[in-house]
Amino acid sequence: MLKNNKILIFDTTLRDGEQSPGCSMNLSEKLKIFEALQALNVDIVEAGFAIASEGDFEAIKEISKIAKNTKVCSLARANKEDIDRAYDALQYASNFRIHTFIATSDLHMKYKLRLSKEEVLENIKNSVKHARNLCEDIEWSAEDGSRSDFDFLCQCIEVAIRSGATTINIPDTVGYAIPDEFKELISKIRNSVPNIDKAIISVHCHNDLGLAVSNSLSALDAGARQVECTVNGIGERAGNASMEEIVMAIKTRKDFLPYYTDINTKEILQSSRLLSAITGFTVQPNKAIVGANAFAHESGIHQDGMLKHNKTYEIMNPESVGLSKSKLVLGKHSGRHAFKQKLIEMGYNLGDNFINDAFKRFKSLSDKKKDIYDKDLVALVDNEVTLNDEIIKLINLEVKCGSTRNPKILVKIDYKGKPIQKTESGNGPVDSIFKAINSIVKNNAKLELFQIHAVTKGTDAQAEVTVRLNEDGISVNGLASDTDTMVASANAYIVALNKLIDKRKRRTSGIGISSSTNIK
Ligand code: KIV
Ligand code: ZN
Repeated sequence: MLKNNKILIFDTTLRDGEQSPGCSMNLSEKLKIFEALQALNVDIVEAGFAIASEGDFEAIKEISKIAKNTKVCSLARANKEDIDRAYDALQYASNFRIHTFIATSDLHMKYKLRLSKEEVLENIKNSVKHARNLCEDIEWSAEDGSRSDFDFLCQCIEVAIRSGATTINIPDTVGYAIPDEFKELISKIRNSVPNIDKAIISVHCHNDLGLAVSNSLSALDAGARQVECTVNGIGERAGNASMEEIVMAIKTRKDFLPYYTDINTKEILQSSRLLSAITGFTVQPNKAIVGANAFAHESGIHQDGMLKHNKTYEIMNPESVGLSKSKLVLGKHSGRHAFKQKLIEMGYNLGDNFINDAFKRFKSLSDKKKDIYDKDLVALVDNEVTLNDEIIKLINLEVKCGSTRNPKILVKIDYKGKPIQKTESGNGPVDSIFKAINSIVKNNAKLELFQIHAVTKGTDAQAEVTVRLNEDGISVNGLASDTDTMVASANAYIVALNKLIDKRKRRTSGIGISSSTNIK
């Protein structure tokens, strides 16, 4: 059913995005992301996969309780248990959707599901009917749809709609499609499935060939009216279609894309930064829309052109995605009010307790660093965002190192309310710091990522450190910034350990997903 030219934005950052390695989030992080998605005015938020874990279930339930205008959705496989679990978590929302799926390609049916075509059709009928008895709004997805036998795919869609599906989603699960081909597939579906006018067509594209956004946009021309996407394009393997790229392409190229979304684009940058801070997945500087250089003009010719007329080299207005113009912002003498105002101007709408803590950190930063730029404030706030109920806190760090001696470090931390101090000497100062912390906080975590980047230019720039730890399959990220790289490293490690301890406590209840249903 082609409603009009409005494109529904279905955000799956908290499900498909969160599912990708290294991106997992705890409950309070998911709630923060949800709030950012709500501020963006996303139409539907896929908040998780209720049966996958206790953590997913809790997150969907808590998100359902706080959702205002946003429709909340949970994924469910094509069986009663999954669908009931999704409903149990979603029932707290005033507006919700159950999203059920089954694979329809020969490859998936034969090797993964071990089901015949007839059995798959039967599953679709039963699962969609069951879901429809619980909720009015049902999305059905044909996993690996773009590689499915066309006639069979059409049969599946027809059955799903007849059984009560209101949205039909065609995923390019493995990111294999080419834009013209994908457009043709959606067109053919519209022309071949007799009851297709009773449902909205949705697309869900992965980015394995870097074509997720192009494929999604070309499907609009063929009649798709819902796009599934994620903030920063995070997601399995090469990721999903990036929400900000789709939304801004539609907004910027109305001549070719005569559609609209209801996204509040001024929230784009803030949501992108929040997600990067929480997951430790920083976006590449040249990433479209949200990369640090997306609106930077470095070369003389470009700067000259910009000074004469900003349209010479800018196709979008930076403010339209939430980028503030001013570069040099606050200094040593700025007060709490100016600090708060600046954060609001930058798109951070934060509570008073949060502002107070962040302001203390700002004061201590301004003692060390003369000029405080927007990027410094972003790092500072992001840092604050990742600090949750901490069991471990850094009290003191002393580092002695040099070209002619082994490093010697002293770490003092507050662990479960007790101050504990250790000295250590390892392969370099960072190794020594991590070893000392490990000798106080016992763990089997493996360091999967250690990354440093300078937040701004200059030797007094803050270092932003990301640490990723993995312990028995539990993966967590820690992010911290400081003008002292060693302090930032110690804090990032400690943030990750705090999250690990929190996750250990919440470890899944055992309702896992079997390998045969490991979805993309
Ligand atoms: O990529 C995919 O096929 C999916 C479906 C579950 C929609 O994520
Ligand atoms: Zn997917």
